[in-house]
Amino acid sequence: MCGIVGYIGKQRDIKVGLAALKRLEYRGYDSAGLAVFDSEKNQIIGLKSIGRIDDLENKIAKSGLSLNGNPSLFHTRWATHGGVTEANAHPHSDCKGNIWLVHNGIIENHKELRESLEKEGHKFVSETDTEVIAHLIEKFFDGNLEEAVRKAVRLIRGAYALAIIAKDDPQKLVAARLSSPLVIGISANDGYIVASDATAVVPYAKQVVNLEDNEIAVINHNDFYILKEKQPEDLEIDAEEIQKGGYPHYMLKEIMEQPEALENSLKGRLILEQGLAQLGGLQNVSDQLRKIKRLRIVACGTAYHAGLIGKYMMEEYAGIPTEVDIASEFRYRKPILEENTALLCISQSGETADTLAAIQEAKRRGVLTLGIVNAIGSSIVRETDAGVYNHIGPEIGVAATKSFVSQLAILALLTLYLGRQRNLSLVKGQRIAADIQKLPELVAEILKQNDTIKEVAEKYKDFNNGCFIGRKYNAPIALEGALKLKEISYLHAEGVVGGELKHGPLALVDENFLTVAVCPSDSVYEKMVSNIQQVKGRNGKVIAIATEGNEDIKNIVDDVIYIPRVSEILTPILSVVPLQLFAYHVGVLRGCDVDKPRNLAKSVTVE
Ligand code: AGP
Repeated sequence: MCGIVGYIGKQRDIKVGLAALKRLEYRGYDSAGLAVFDSEKNQIIGLKSIGRIDDLENKIAKSGLSLNGNPSLFHTRWATHGGVTEANAHPHSDCKGNIWLVHNGIIENHKELRESLEKEGHKFVSETDTEVIAHLIEKFFDGNLEEAVRKAVRLIRGAYALAIIAKDDPQKLVAARLSSPLVIGISANDGYIVASDATAVVPYAKQVVNLEDNEIAVINHNDFYILKEKQPEDLEIDAEEIQKGGYPHYMLKEIMEQPEALENSLKGRLILEQGLAQLGGLQNVSDQLRKIKRLRIVACGTAYHAGLIGKYMMEEYAGIPTEVDIASEFRYRKPILEENTALLCISQSGETADTLAAIQEAKRRGVLTLGIVNAIGSSIVRETDAGVYNHIGPEIGVAATKSFVSQLAILALLTLYLGRQRNLSLVKGQRIAADIQKLPELVAEILKQNDTIKEVAEKYKDFNNGCFIGRKYNAPIALEGALKLKEISYLHAEGVVGGELKHGPLALVDENFLTVAVCPSDSVYEKMVSNIQQVKGRNGKVIAIATEGNEDIKNIVDDVIYIPRVSEILTPILSVVPLQLFAYHVGVLRGCDVDKPRNLAKSVTVE
């Protein structure tokens, strides 16, 4: 989370902007910088330094630069893309230093945009996603800054709060916002400040305007106006992104891009040394979250399975009693919603009718509503009080894959966030944060077994009945593994909580019945071994998902797929990956349309 400030008004020195920036230093302090339009020299002067704002002030003093003029930009950085270096510090500029900007947010498609801009001859000097925006504006600039900004932001996917100035259109400050907060502070007798939040403008401004998503503010010395961008529904902005990227199916592409998806979901959201999660989208409700006593999670399908795992996380590590409801049931029950309850909905599409209806019911009853959503600006996003975006790009395959692991990672971040507001210790928080940080590389390790998993799928593709078993954090993974297999390959499978096997489902087991046991080396491993022995005792076939290094398991099951060791709370994020690949390969081998399974739709916008 970074802090941005822009200033335009009567003052020619940088005091106002720097003072506002200091009030944002809590948002990040790896590096800082500023840019000022000097009308006498007719140029924009930029200066940056690593470290805190004090270090920047020392550098200004030593530079001998006369930084007088406006509009001006100021920034304090929390590093996400690219290390803590001067080159990566904001503000960033275009090739010629004529257009400068500061940014808070994440540009998900920065790699594709950078590649196409470099092909057009643009020269980059930093590793950041932000610099891409400066070159995009340069590409469209023909003397009118807001017009160039309007065209540039339409190509961006992700989240941004921007403040921009241009040497060749110097009498204005342009600001733009999508899913990252931005306010305009209005002084009674001076001018205007834009900033990441109102704390920065309070001493200066008598009034404030909150920019909304898809709004572009054009501010001059005496007035401002706001352009509202209505994004077209089916943006073809990123043909590259919605192609299969060389894979035979979107589902396989999206499974294989899960390390990158996790990186984007986690970027800028972990403070390792303090064992904290930083979730900018919850900032305006953080005090309310500190007071909640109960959490209700509502979702459908795969997202519901994520919610079930969230329950285990929240109760064990945040100490918050948590209930999980299938959204279509929640909306027709008479749920008792005590005060100090928050309702969290999880939805990849942000358009699932039952989940949306559940939120509306909870809002009607005055409950704080939160979302974990992938589709930016979707109905559920607009309906909830606050939330966290997945930032994983579009998920085209009907089967939820990368969105699911992203949901689990964000639930782990939310657990850390809420737990550290309560009794979760610094040491435990640091341990969880360090483990979360490793998830992308651990998932990448599992994906290297794709060929092995395909061989296992070939062995069992002709089975027509099966079940998945798991316990505790992996009980919902048993449900999810069954859902993936049946919705992709039409093989009938059900998810069974391990302890329930002997209460009925065991009757299904014989030599024609497949059981997949999700049994990492965790606190309930021994219980899972006894479940496996119950199945083997009836000649059932068993595939185990086990922790690497566990050689014993090979002696009691038919096939083993290994996952890396990780703390128990995070095992579901790893254990689901082999199940996704298993379902995918069985579906392909059985000749199914794995991207568009029969009878289903990607977004269920009807009851
Ligand atoms: C899962 O593979 C399915 N595509 C389906 O269960 C999906 O998870 C469910 O419809 C919820 O969708 P949402 O996350 O967009 O709300």
